[in-house]
Amino acid sequence: MPYPYQITSLEQYHNDYKRSVEEPETFWADVAENFYWRKKWDRVLEWNFTEPKIEWFKGGKLNITENCIDRHLEKLGDKPALIWVPNDPEDRTRIVTYNRLHKRVCQFAQVLINNGVQKGDRVCIYMGMVPELSYAVLGCARIGAIHSVIFGGFSAQSIADRLYDAQAEFIVTCDGAYRGNKDIPLKSIIDDALIGNRTIKRVIVYTRTRTPVSMLKGRDVWWEDEMEHAEAQIEKDNVITMPATEMDAEDPLFILYTSGSTGKPKGVVHSIAGYMVWTNYTFVNTFQYKPGDVFFCTADIGWITGHSYILYGPLSAGGTSVMFEGVPTFPDAGRFWDIVDKHKVNILYTAPTAIRSLMSYGLDPLKGKDLSTLKVLGTVGEPINEEAWHWYDDNIGKNKCPVVDTWWQTETGGTLITNMAGVTPAKPGWATLPMPGVQPLLVDENGKEVTEPNADGLLKGNLCIKAPWPGILRTTYGDHERCRTNYFATYENLYFTGDGALKDKDGNFRITGRVDDVLNISGHRIGTAELENAINMHAGVIESAVVGYPHDIKGQGIYAYVIYGHMHGDEEQTRKDIFQTVSRVIGAIAKPDKIQFVTGLPKTRSGKIMRRILRKIADGETENLGDISTLLDPGVVEEIKNGKL
Ligand code: PRX
Repeated sequence: MPYPYQITSLEQYHNDYKRSVEEPETFWADVAENFYWRKKWDRVLEWNFTEPKIEWFKGGKLNITENCIDRHLEKLGDKPALIWVPNDPEDRTRIVTYNRLHKRVCQFAQVLINNGVQKGDRVCIYMGMVPELSYAVLGCARIGAIHSVIFGGFSAQSIADRLYDAQAEFIVTCDGAYRGNKDIPLKSIIDDALIGNRTIKRVIVYTRTRTPVSMLKGRDVWWEDEMEHAEAQIEKDNVITMPATEMDAEDPLFILYTSGSTGKPKGVVHSIAGYMVWTNYTFVNTFQYKPGDVFFCTADIGWITGHSYILYGPLSAGGTSVMFEGVPTFPDAGRFWDIVDKHKVNILYTAPTAIRSLMSYGLDPLKGKDLSTLKVLGTVGEPINEEAWHWYDDNIGKNKCPVVDTWWQTETGGTLITNMAGVTPAKPGWATLPMPGVQPLLVDENGKEVTEPNADGLLKGNLCIKAPWPGILRTTYGDHERCRTNYFATYENLYFTGDGALKDKDGNFRITGRVDDVLNISGHRIGTAELENAINMHAGVIESAVVGYPHDIKGQGIYAYVIYGHMHGDEEQTRKDIFQTVSRVIGAIAKPDKIQFVTGLPKTRSGKIMRRILRKIADGETENLGDISTLLDPGVVEEIKNGKL
């Protein structure tokens, strides 16, 4: 049995779940035994949610890259670790074996050292989905530098904010990135982000698109030159000598910025050992991965899904992971199915928004595509509507592949509530049961556990978790108090997820969506406060309020109500100007879908915007807006209703 902790029956699930709750320390120690430690831990778990302080495997010494690469070399050295699929199907696929990955990661680790990077330093990575991005991430981990990957859709301003927050001194980027028929000038965006910056010491630039770039003397260096030099240093007679740095179990592994209900994204910090154990355990169990399976997670490494299920989960399990540079609809809507066919993919993991988008092209793109290698399908990022679930099950899985609906978050490191493929039952639209180690409960606004079912026989409340699992976030970078107030202070002694959920009598959970001021656009989190800040930066905007509304493809769309001063051009032109501002401040991913100009916003006498009313109007509701008599100016509601887009 390659994974002794793999759950293979419903009965075992129940037994393991019970044990994980009753005796978490021995349960997780048994799982952790299956990794490579330089020194074993002194204590499995120490925690309280009041500070919060969460420590797993404290005293343990390890390096995650030895677990993801070195320990596999003897048996799997010539096996593919990564199958890299380029944006343009005419370009060459690259198969990165474990041996090759080892060499490249070591080489890049040496490059980092040569450029002055030390253990604990923050390295910002802003690259397209090229294999070199994986080498950069793992190269950081090898020397104990903390990586902070920023998705290629974020703007210079967003990068500058993140660089400042992380106090980063190093950047790894590309000249440009291909995404469908677009060519994104990453280095030039970095240059904009660095105007006036005095802390960045080095920018390492990998050549992907051959877009002309400006290289600043003394600061910018080429990836290729640096790698060549490093190769000569670490390789002798085909043997690589580049030891991994010994790290403490609780040393930080990475920072990943994510939006919350306040204006500023926060840097979620994961630490090494717990995250490693959790991504591996959840990968092997959720997807029922078997050695030799080809796993294709369609996410971008700029998001947590890519961190956990393109890199750390599959690689720590000695798996084969497909890394895809492009988009689902380029050159046509059959791209995923081509990749499944060509690379004999066994497990496909994607987002409901991608499924809905592909559904809209009908079944033609599936013609002639052999999908018979598929065994398991997965979804992540947002609630999946039943229509999309069934389309996926019928047309992609041909009703033979279990569909796992995995609920989790940047903060949770890996899947928390999900069915396990073929082991625990699926229920369309439901994430179903918690993973071992995860103790969810539903509470009302006062933090009291909900125990009375509603008229449909379901419990309904805000989703919290009672105790830590190994992959839980440890802090928010540079501001532990923010971590406490965001996640651990709403309800005493509970981790609050920000999601609402339903629970049925069998213990299954259905996630209904965010209950805080966070939108989920195509599976990506964006805070309304962050969006409003961006819109308000446009010179003509006096005030704005942003809400989500149901969107056929994206799940949620962005609806902005804007009070505008003096309009110079027409409304359409002004909308475009506002789009431009948002793209500059946050990035193109945050562009509002609708902007309605209004003369006022529904506010209470204390000045609080009544978003509930705005949400209902954006949703198409004109009656039943609830009590509006407490508003400062109830008349404004009528105007907004009449102007709805
Ligand atoms: O609202 C939930 C939704 O996505 C949020 C987390 O977003 P992020 O940190 O960007 O991570 C996305 C990838 C893990 C959650 O709070 N969400 C994620 N998965 C699901 C989901 N909602 C319903 N069902 C899911 N399977």
